[in-house]
Amino acid sequence: MTTIYERIKADHETHRRLLDGIADTQGDSEERRKMWNEFYYDVKSHAAAEEETFYSKLMEDPKGQDDARHSVAEHKEMDDIMEELNKMDFSSPGWLTRFKTLKHDYEHHMEEEEEDIFAKGREVFSKEEAETFADRFETRKKAERKLVDEKAEGSLEE
Ligand SMILES: [Fe+2]
Ligand SMILES: [Fe+2]
Repeated sequence: MTTIYERIKADHETHRRLLDGIADTQGDSEERRKMWNEFYYDVKSHAAAEEETFYSKLMEDPKGQDDARHSVAEHKEMDDIMEELNKMDFSSPGWLTRFKTLKHDYEHHMEEEEEDIFAKGREVFSKEEAETFADRFETRKKAERKLVDEKAEGSLEE
């Protein structure tokens, strides 16, 4: 059975491929919009599902609290940049500059999850728990995918 670690890593591979692909696009092209949209919706639902099924549990363990807080704070920072990019003119030179900041930050975030956070998870959770979290992640990610637009509007009203 799939564990939460394998499930998250599979998404990260998709995200890395999209980050590289988007970095190679130029201007307001169909290619850039298509890959950006795929990235935007998948990363947002991925991060929300991580928080709801993995980080919330890690937060409950005193050994995991700091790591969980750190990652959730990074999600918020990256979410702000994603909202910014989503509203920016795709043809402006500033778009790619800002995107590269996101790419750098997000690559670092994924690496940290795969190395430090997963190691912490393996200390705190049993294999069975890690498999249960993978199932929950799948369900939550699908539900979150439908809520992305609604939540983005809510965050603009803050
Ligand atoms: Fe994350
Ligand atoms: Fe992740």
